Amino acid sequence: MRIDAIREGIDEHYGDSPLRPVLLASLLAAADAVDSTVGVQMAYLKKWAPRALNDLRLRVPAFTPGTGRAVRGDATELVHELPAVDLAYLDPPYNQHRYFTNYHVWETLVRWDRPEHYGVACKRVDSRDPATKSVFNAKREMPAALAQTIKSVNADVVVVSFSNEGYVPLADLIEMCHARGNPVEVLAFDSKRYVGALIGIYSPSGDKVGNVSHTRNTEYVLLSGDADRIGAMAEQVLHGASS
Ligand SMILES: C[S@@+](CC[C@H](N)C(=O)[O-])C[C@H]1O[C@@H](n2cnc3c(N)ncnc32)[C@H](O)[C@@H]1O
Repeated sequence: MRIDAIREGIDEHYGDSPLRPVLLASLLAAADAVDSTVGVQMAYLKKWAPRALNDLRLRVPAFTPGTGRAVRGDATELVHELPAVDLAYLDPPYNQHRYFTNYHVWETLVRWDRPEHYGVACKRVDSRDPATKSVFNAKREMPAALAQTIKSVNADVVVVSFSNEGYVPLADLIEMCHARGNPVEVLAFDSKRYVGALIGIYSPSGDKVGNVSHTRNTEYVLLSGDADRIGAMAEQVLHGASS
């Protein structure tokens, strides 16, 4: 109810203000700190998570220094329209899981459009609308779309992150980056899998019905660009060199 009241207040008092997106980001981050989920919003915990009982605290979000421009659109199209940049970071989906459905409550909190919903998770009905779907979540179409996006992006250096559990194997990702005609560096980070994968598998009645197969995965970061430049970037990440 507090989140609802603040959300109403943002539109009422800051509807035309440049602060509106800042306030929305702050409210979203505050709500995320007290939610009663395991992260994704495909189901909710049967008992309140302890953090859900904490106070809701709105904080000033960390700002990126300098000026900037946010452009929202389909990456496969935008790469052909955006001006040249020094560095492009591509952080594509890895698999079938969509942010639109996994985080539908946040989607609604920002849109504030009271959508019709379905199922125990109360997902938005427009989750079923093809317009909310992405080629990057479709196993068969994704590799070609990613290859084309990496190749077309107009940047001196391209950084791509991906998981070893994603649709595209590392060798193919390297090949996609090589298609830019530049050298490629690969950084690999051993990481904890997302929390939903760590807690086991439970039936709707709450009984444990399956075990966790593994708890770690590898997150890759591929750098593509001038050899000296990406070499220095990799060196800085791995050894903290000042170059
Ligand atoms: C791995 S997440 C990246 C998250 C982001 N870097 C962050 O820190 O929040 C992939 C993101 O790509 C977005 N996405 C999926 N398909 C897209 C497309 N065709 N064009 C642009 N973005 C897309 C998803 O909605 C999601 O936000």
